[in-house]
Amino acid sequence: MENLTIRRPDDWHVHLREGTVLKDACRDLSRYIGRAVVMPNLSKPVTNLTLAKEYYNDIKAAMELFPRQFTPLMTLYLTDKTSSQEIIEAARSEIICGIKLYPSGATTNSQSGVVDISALFPIFEVMQREKLNLMIHGEVTDSEIDPFDKEKLFIDRHLAAITKEFPDLKITLEHITTKDAVQFILDAGDNIASTITPHHLIYNRSDLFRGGIRPHLYCLPILKRSTHQTALIEAAISGNPKFFLGSDSAPHDIHSKESACGCAGIYSAHASLEFYTHVFDQMNALDKLEGFASEFGARFYGLQKNSDSVTLIREEWEIAEKLPLGADWLIPMMSKEIVEWKVINK
Ligand code: NCD
Ligand code: ZN
Repeated sequence: MENLTIRRPDDWHVHLREGTVLKDACRDLSRYIGRAVVMPNLSKPVTNLTLAKEYYNDIKAAMELFPRQFTPLMTLYLTDKTSSQEIIEAARSEIICGIKLYPSGATTNSQSGVVDISALFPIFEVMQREKLNLMIHGEVTDSEIDPFDKEKLFIDRHLAAITKEFPDLKITLEHITTKDAVQFILDAGDNIASTITPHHLIYNRSDLFRGGIRPHLYCLPILKRSTHQTALIEAAISGNPKFFLGSDSAPHDIHSKESACGCAGIYSAHASLEFYTHVFDQMNALDKLEGFASEFGARFYGLQKNSDSVTLIREEWEIAEKLPLGADWLIPMMSKEIVEWKVINK
């Protein structure tokens, strides 16, 4: 039997939702994740510190059901109306890890997102001064733009300008999906990093259409062609600290996904570390997993690394067909498929 013990991992991008589904969304993460950066795209977005504190308390309460808990790191949802005062309060709060920029209309619950990015430059100035991280969903939203080009265009039109104007602003380009994003991150300063999801490492856009349309593989940014997938895998296993774990695990009930107009998001919290381990193993790069999963994110956000560890064994197990989500169900990533690695000590 083969074992792999690594420092306890953190997840630098997750969705937990609210209300009756919150406890289910916390269930899988609380098994072995150390800290989780919680996205603010609730139906009423988390736009200020008061709302973030309420949400933090709700998450802590939901987790009391479980034998162990992760530490939630909260984010605020940037809007065209966010004030400098709100940024300063957030920067001084212990629970806030960063501010999330959703271009308006880019993804789930992004209607209140930013319409005019350049109008927010005074806010970025305050964030740079206050040393508060900016997390970006990097896609343009124009409906006439091909969905597969939206990330690259965002980089060219917006990110390049933001990084030039604010050379000390810490930015995480979230869930990168293209070789263009990888190259941008490599060329940028040490203040720019990125998260990579397990689904963008394991799948490419052909998988979306394998034998028919696969709504449970629809996420944003959408899966890209295999050349991009290869670039992401190479970045993840490179040992470069600018690339780290962010699962973007996004619970949606089965009916919202299997619909004439299905929503975006892939749920992976039930086995995210096992999925990443599979990818690193396939590439003979298990020695690079710990940095990616458990060290580089903490370093980037200026936090201590976790001091304890988790152990995986090489053992085949089958992913559940469906998992409870409130009164409904969700279909997890790799439903009913076999995975080769399993976390044993939590
Ligand atoms: C996320 C969600 O469901 O909230 N969906 C997704 O496809 N990734 C939002 C996001 O991160 O874009
Ligand atoms: Zn997300």
